[in-house]
Amino acid sequence: MEQEKVDLVIRGGTVVSPSSSIKADVAISGQKISAVSSQGILPRAEHEIDAEGLYVLPGAIDSHVHFREPGYAYKEDWATGTAAAACGGTTSVFEMPNTNPPTGTLEALALKQECASRQAHVDYGIYGLLDENNIENLEALIENGVSGFKCFMGNTFGNLPAPSDGAILEGFEILSRHGYRCTVHAENPSIMARRQARMEAAGRTDTLAHLAARPEVCAVEAVGRAVAFAEWTGARLHIAHKSSKDALYILKDAKARGVDVTVETCPHYLLMSTDDTDRLGGQMRVNPPIREPGHAEALWEGLHDGTIDMIATDHAPHQPEEKDSKNIWECDCGFPGVETQMPIMLTQVNQGRLSLQQYVKWSAHAPAHAWGCYPNKGVIQAGSDADIAIVDMGSGSMIDREMLHSKSKMTVWHGFQTSASVEWTLVRGAVVVEKGVLVGKQGHGKPVQQNMPTPAPRNQDKSMEEIVKIRF
Ligand code: NCD
Ligand code: ZN
Repeated sequence: MEQEKVDLVIRGGTVVSPSSSIKADVAISGQKISAVSSQGILPRAEHEIDAEGLYVLPGAIDSHVHFREPGYAYKEDWATGTAAAACGGTTSVFEMPNTNPPTGTLEALALKQECASRQAHVDYGIYGLLDENNIENLEALIENGVSGFKCFMGNTFGNLPAPSDGAILEGFEILSRHGYRCTVHAENPSIMARRQARMEAAGRTDTLAHLAARPEVCAVEAVGRAVAFAEWTGARLHIAHKSSKDALYILKDAKARGVDVTVETCPHYLLMSTDDTDRLGGQMRVNPPIREPGHAEALWEGLHDGTIDMIATDHAPHQPEEKDSKNIWECDCGFPGVETQMPIMLTQVNQGRLSLQQYVKWSAHAPAHAWGCYPNKGVIQAGSDADIAIVDMGSGSMIDREMLHSKSKMTVWHGFQTSASVEWTLVRGAVVVEKGVLVGKQGHGKPVQQNMPTPAPRNQDKSMEEIVKIRF
């Protein structure tokens, strides 16, 4: 076999996978990793990165970001959102459909694909919307390149109305035939709308009113409903931003029964609580809300016991004036997070709350599996895309919102002390961040290639498609 030309060698670092941390050199040829080898064996390449004392991780894969374009580019666009991702060691993102227009039609998808392909620094998947009125578009959206679907069962930024249960079930019937995963924002909309209206009428405008409108039972009910529809149809399910301990038992049971459900949580649910309310005020408003002390510990436990599969960020940028009202109902929900996730979570590694191997499992390995990207992504091995974050576990800094690449400086992490940093980021072999500085070019990012496992539809004889057939 002809020897492939090696373009770049990462030398002297410790390469981390979910099962091992080993000192090894990594050779890159074109867009791919061509060898992972014992140190000192690989010949010199034209380009070399000295990773002595550093850790070489698969780039993070973030299942949940909002890059706002088209429609709200003043909050974020694909260039700034993916620059933030790259600087945070994230090499692939899955972007949500609550833009304007929402990504529920072929026209809207084409608009977003154009924004992304022109500007992206990192690889990306684009979510299609599953809503009340676009069930007939789902297959065409798949054919035209969406990576999965998002169903807003509970209201949030963009105010997309929650589809009826009938529409969700019918949508799942269709997705199950294709093996595509549907992410759900699992909160019950009617409970939340009623409670918010009553509190507004009663004059409650304080920060905690938002939490009071969205009690844990909203998630318990919606997670249970989504699992029921997924189990019945065989559709693959992903639970976005798990924030409370209460619905975890449902997910644990569902997984034990073999339901293909994956679950994410986010750094703010793992590390914050209502104890931060006085400090952060309306900035902290996010859906689902950050809850009372006690939930975070259960979420950590969920990660450790496998009920929660991965860490995502729900990167949700807004402008300062959209977040600073004294009236909580006037503050937009969400805050940016894609650039700070890795340093924050690696700081937790340094504090002993997880191992570096677990971090790699939850930030890269598990999402790569969930979205059908493994082993192309999510692992450092010969043949995989060279999507790599090289990190220094011994040099932190105080997070400063002015230094972030997102258009939104409204981060709840401003002032948070980290003890680790992202030094280099590579996306398919190209250096996009060098010694902490963005050097990549817009337009380098490409749609992620997916190969979802074989579809496993169930109860198709009772599906909408089947029952509307004329029978004599
Ligand atoms: C997100 C946004 O701003 O788009 N906001 C949020 O509070 N999380 C939407 C969402 O994920 O719910
Ligand atoms: Zn979100």
